[in-house]
Amino acid sequence: MSKAEPSAAAGASTGALEIKDTRTGTGYSVPILPPGTEGDTAIRAMDLRPIKQSPDEFGLMTYDPAFMNTASCKSAITFIDGDKGILRYRGYPIEQLAEKASFLEVAWLLRNGELPTQAEYTDWTHQITYHTYVHENIKTFLQGFRYDAHPMSMLCSSVAAMSSFYPSAKNIQDPAERHISIVRLLAKLPTLAAFCYRHVKGLPFIYPDNDLSYVENFLSMVARMTEPKYEANPIFVKALEVLFILHADHEQNCSTNAVRAVGSSHVDPFSAVAAGIAALYGPLHGGANEAVLHMIKEIGDKKNIPAFIEGVKGGKGQKLMGFGHRVYKSYDPRARIVKKLADDVFKVVGVDRDLEIALELERIALSDDYFISRKLYPNVDFYTGLIYRSMAFPTDFFTVLFAVARTAGWLSQWEEMLNDKEQKIARPRQIYTGYGERPYQSKLDHSVGAQRKDAVRK
Ligand code: SDX
Repeated sequence: MSKAEPSAAAGASTGALEIKDTRTGTGYSVPILPPGTEGDTAIRAMDLRPIKQSPDEFGLMTYDPAFMNTASCKSAITFIDGDKGILRYRGYPIEQLAEKASFLEVAWLLRNGELPTQAEYTDWTHQITYHTYVHENIKTFLQGFRYDAHPMSMLCSSVAAMSSFYPSAKNIQDPAERHISIVRLLAKLPTLAAFCYRHVKGLPFIYPDNDLSYVENFLSMVARMTEPKYEANPIFVKALEVLFILHADHEQNCSTNAVRAVGSSHVDPFSAVAAGIAALYGPLHGGANEAVLHMIKEIGDKKNIPAFIEGVKGGKGQKLMGFGHRVYKSYDPRARIVKKLADDVFKVVGVDRDLEIALELERIALSDDYFISRKLYPNVDFYTGLIYRSMAFPTDFFTVLFAVARTAGWLSQWEEMLNDKEQKIARPRQIYTGYGERPYQSKLDHSVGAQRKDAVRK
């Protein structure tokens, strides 16, 4: 019996799948790759390619819509255990980073794999601080948007536009070019986000203040009015620092997959990050924090919750926004931290009706078998929007805050992809289900008059 030649997978295999193709009676031995650090196992999809009925066949592929069971890469950045509710950045538990680290310290960790020394951190924050300005033309670009433009649309466009200001960013194989692009993106995302906010509010743009920390400077660019120096509420600064850390990375989520796929064409990182922002904009992904608030507003009062829940269970496609997760089949560890953060923030700003609706919604959902049987628990987005709203951010700005933070993860994943010798341009296959070959026979009226009339009609 012919056997699949095991691919030249690095390292000794730890077992194999013995596959028999009953169509041909041929057996194949497909090596199981050495497990990842936490035991992830996989086979190489390419090791299935030799499985054919005849030599001229393309060979067997795997079919996995939405990549429910496909590892697109090897990564050492973030580990999630969805059943145990574990999230670690480079091995550090998210709970410890959220409590003790700063966002820029985490951004360094995600990219470099180790926590920065004091000297590294001082230099890193200096570089970020001194790259917060954006080209003045970006202001003109943003002023072209209507007053009611969605800030995620503005952010996505302006980040893509930034690639035109830094043409050398396309030299992605140059480590120095990659470094300065990463610094520029981390430094300028808060500035762009704040400019989007100020444009929608019809307020003048506030320039960066280099005396302030990353989060304080962002809040200053968002909220400073006539005062010469912005004094941020320390509760809000801490809350935003923690929320940025919680949102910094999350392994191969939809937007990170977008950044990796677009980045694999070797486009510049500004364009790749713009693709990530576009993916994050979706209500099933980063747009969920905005959708949670719209949902709570729609419910309007605790007495309406049972009817709303019945509507969700009715199977008409209505979802309990902020609940459920592709990976977490238990409580999202970030949601636990955000919920505690919400308690701290609401001690300052006061508990309001929306928070009461959210707490009651969670209480009911966590005891309802529809959600329990589907392992639907609150995710990071469920409480986040309530905190942002308590800080007076408009609802459609919540996902912009998510994008500012996730830029750290996107860039770390982007650079890891570029340095991964196994990676190349992302180009999935398909199972073709369309017509076989057939001759062209137009159904149009090709008479001269008809054509002239047709031209007029256009
Ligand atoms: C983020 O991937 C990441 O890591 C994302 C993220 C990150 O940090 O990058 O964690 C950030 O995007 C969090 C998720 C935010 N999205 C939402 O809160 C939107 C609401 N959630 C759902 O749309 C959904 O749970 C997803 C998209 C998050 C996950 O969807 P899956 O894994 O594809 O699950 P599914 O749609 O196959 O659902 C399984 C079942 C289905 O019911 P049945 O068809 O089997 O009867 O659960 C149901 C779904 O209808 N279901 C829900 C639900 N989520 C899933 N039913 C009601 N409300 C929900 N929220």
